[in-house]
Amino acid sequence: MDASLALPRLRFCDSLKAADDPALELRAGLSAAAASIAPKFFYDRLGARLFEAICELSEYTLPRDEQVIFDRHTADITQAVGPDCTLIDLGAGNCAKAERLFPALAPRQYVAIDIAAAFLREQLTRVAQRHPQIEMIGVATDFSSGLALPASVRAQRRLAFYPGSSIGNFAPLDARAFLSSVHAACNGGYLLLGADLVKDPVAQVAAYDDALGVTAAFNLNVLNVANRLAGTDFLVSDWRHVARFNETESRMEMHLEARRDLVVCWPGGERRFAAGELIHTENSYKYTRSGLTGLLHSAGYRNVRLFTDPSERFVVALAE
Ligand code: TRP
Repeated sequence: MDASLALPRLRFCDSLKAADDPALELRAGLSAAAASIAPKFFYDRLGARLFEAICELSEYTLPRDEQVIFDRHTADITQAVGPDCTLIDLGAGNCAKAERLFPALAPRQYVAIDIAAAFLREQLTRVAQRHPQIEMIGVATDFSSGLALPASVRAQRRLAFYPGSSIGNFAPLDARAFLSSVHAACNGGYLLLGADLVKDPVAQVAAYDDALGVTAAFNLNVLNVANRLAGTDFLVSDWRHVARFNETESRMEMHLEARRDLVVCWPGGERRFAAGELIHTENSYKYTRSGLTGLLHSAGYRNVRLFTDPSERFVVALAE
């Protein structure tokens, strides 16, 4: 039996639009002069698991730095937001970060949103079993082009939660547009936002190119996803993981580099790659404190408070 059936306070809602045809999007990205694959395609089942493994790597300090901040400032956050909030988790993944806030924050409703529908259902069902007093809604949707919430989400005391460095995956203007849409969706409420700070370039690159090769596996796995969703015939062994810091743009760039001259085919099309040619898979923008405050103000937020870890590698912003 589906375990979620026994949990009356848990609901799911699938808003993934049929109009976003992944095959068309992937093929268009591969056909562009500068080939690319959008980062949302990383997160199939294996990708979601590999990302969990990345978060355990010594080189990827981000989750621990962020946790230190939450541990130190949960009281400040709880006091500002007040009781009975509706916690809206944007890109919930395994829901673990939000769950750690439950004891102090005591939300009345928890809304977990993620593009990985099956993974979300599984994880949220477990979380709901542990916290039967909290009403929970799982929403499978792609919110990257704007946030729309189902009617069952309470309008009062909304707290949007966007931890990790996911905001860094947007180019600055897109980040502003996205945060404005979150602002509109949570009118009168709060935003709790994580962002990675600019740091020493060697440590910065190592965080995305670890010695065990877990990040390489995560990046390369997107080719398996493309093969499944777009009918491409990528051979993973023909490609190499590349991570580099683009100083001018203040961003980490992830690419896949062709190891030899090759052709990738799909039903109705093909793309020739020369040895060394790249497929761009993700940007991760690194912020300064003032840069992040400026971004939040430009998206309509006010009373921005910033919390950092002792080594100043990461920042959490709380804004109204
Ligand atoms: N959004 C995360 C980040 O920017 C995801 C991530 C971690 C990632 N390591 C990666 C994405 C490697 C692509 C490749 O930190």
